[in-house]
Amino acid sequence: MTISGKAKLAGVIGWPVGHSLSPRVHGYWLAEHGIDGAYVPLQVRPEDCRAALRALPKLGFAGVNVTVPHKQMAAKTVDTLDAVAERTGAVNTVVVEAHGRLAGSNTDGYGFLENLKSGAKGWKASAGAAVVIGAGGAARAITAALLDAGAPEVRVVNRTLARARRLAKDIGGAVTVVTWADRAEALAGAALLVNATSLGMKGGHSLELDLKRLGKAAVVTDIVYAPLVTPLLKAATARGHKTVDGLGMLLHQARPGFRRWFGVEPKVTAALRDFVLADLGA
Ligand code: ATR
Repeated sequence: MTISGKAKLAGVIGWPVGHSLSPRVHGYWLAEHGIDGAYVPLQVRPEDCRAALRALPKLGFAGVNVTVPHKQMAAKTVDTLDAVAERTGAVNTVVVEAHGRLAGSNTDGYGFLENLKSGAKGWKASAGAAVVIGAGGAARAITAALLDAGAPEVRVVNRTLARARRLAKDIGGAVTVVTWADRAEALAGAALLVNATSLGMKGGHSLELDLKRLGKAAVVTDIVYAPLVTPLLKAATARGHKTVDGLGMLLHQARPGFRRWFGVEPKVTAALRDFVLADLGA
């Protein structure tokens, strides 16, 4: 696909950025809709993040996605924050507005909810307590999204308890902090279990978690998507739980940015999933 001198520009800022699947996702949508535009990987060192973001309007960019490790710095750099970015202290989407103003938002929680809604038909946040494993950036966005969507309680389990406590304080609302040792007990009566840590990723440690206290109707989901079926999802399926893999979260969180930069509402389809999976070697 070729572009003209009037092409709209967006990209993803990260360090390193070579692992990012976002150029594949946005490139797919650009081609699908025949848009005169480009979405490029931008390898930016941590110390250059602020200057790179500030340069976006000068370079004529419509905006960028922000990935590890720049999400917090982006939140401190942009001119405005949406409610989720404000609460989580992390920005993953930047839109260049009039007069070069930078608007920061966080679409991770939105992506998480959209993925659950499409992967587990009939699932509702209000169905019961959710257990979130992890207290990093992803866990923060997911916890805030679940509470906003009507979850009566979110139980946050983390290896480092102080980090879970900080999350509870920052997010506010019905968050219960659970120690790592008590994680299996925390599953009792829960309607949703989320792994929001990197545990279970190909080549890394797996999540040691006994599921026997989890009620049969509970939905189980994972933010890890490589492998697509993590050991947690495999164990949950074997016990008869409805499961939702993590790839959809990545795809859905990309939609709001694409719509703002390129003016088209993109869709997450089976063909897009296959296209991205081919890149993962899955
Ligand atoms: P992200 O922003 O992508 O969520 P992060 O901030 O590095 O990434 O968070 C990673 C999460 O995985 C944390 O909850 C981390 O637990 P700690 O806060 O105790 O570090 C969790 N995690 C990573 N490796 C782990 C392991 N081996 N055992 C338990 N938890 C682990």
